[in-house]
Amino acid sequence: MTRPTFADIYDRVIGPDFWELWWPAFERAVAAHHIRFSTVADVACGTGETALRLAMRGIRVFASDISGDMLRVARAKCAGHTVTLSEQAMETLAVPEPVDLLLCCYDSLNMVESPQALVTTLRAFHAAIRPGGHVICDLATRRHLARDWGTGEIHAVTGDIDTVWHTAWNARAGRSTIHLTATVPHAGGVALVTCRVREWGFTKAVVDDAIRQAGFIALDVRDMIPWTPGSDAAQRLFYVLRRPGRPHAQPENQA
Ligand SMILES: C[S@@+](CC[C@H](N)C(=O)[O-])C[C@H]1O[C@@H](n2cnc3c(N)ncnc32)[C@H](O)[C@@H]1O
Repeated sequence: MTRPTFADIYDRVIGPDFWELWWPAFERAVAAHHIRFSTVADVACGTGETALRLAMRGIRVFASDISGDMLRVARAKCAGHTVTLSEQAMETLAVPEPVDLLLCCYDSLNMVESPQALVTTLRAFHAAIRPGGHVICDLATRRHLARDWGTGEIHAVTGDIDTVWHTAWNARAGRSTIHLTATVPHAGGVALVTCRVREWGFTKAVVDDAIRQAGFIALDVRDMIPWTPGSDAAQRLFYVLRRPGRPHAQPENQA
């Protein structure tokens, strides 16, 4: 029996709490800004949950991620649905055709290689959507990474999986390192699953500037969970961006 990996436990330990909060925020943003779409690029799609939910509503989804292992799980989950998967870094994103809507959620933009890479990535997003198309993305704030995650050790139990999160906030670099160790039942014993991520704690000013440099208009920015206006005091900044320009034709269907 193959040893489990981070991708194998993601849908039990990491994803659900976030999706429960993200999906209503997404639907709210779509309704508030009258966003119409029939094609979506789900960038840094992870295990493909969002891609699958959209495909089940008749949307064509181009889902991509840098991790082949996450894509392995996404491929199994999305089999038989209108989801095209590809392994690629978001900084150099390429889509088969310009899409109506691009999503990049759950800290994925915090994981770019450098602050300059945030601009590069948003420019790649701009090129991937049609004129008049939208981006919905969210980032953990600097405050959230510095204070809520901070530096220390966090223990959690989810079903039969124990997790320990070792976190280190580097204030000078503005960067957080998060190291997860999960103890997972496996083959009559346990297996240790580890994962390490580094996230930039961007200030809102840095993100807003990157958005402008990339040529987007920010239609809305919210603190995702209370849905109040987004500021550096938020936990998670939830952005709705628009690429200026008029679409040649409005998409017919809408999720
Ligand atoms: C916290 S997960 C979020 C996954 C998914 N969006 C979700 O909501 O469950 C972050 C994802 O970003 C991906 N990722 C990190 N850096 C990336 C990059 N430079 N390009 C593309 N994907 C990246 C990781 O492999 C991981 O799947």
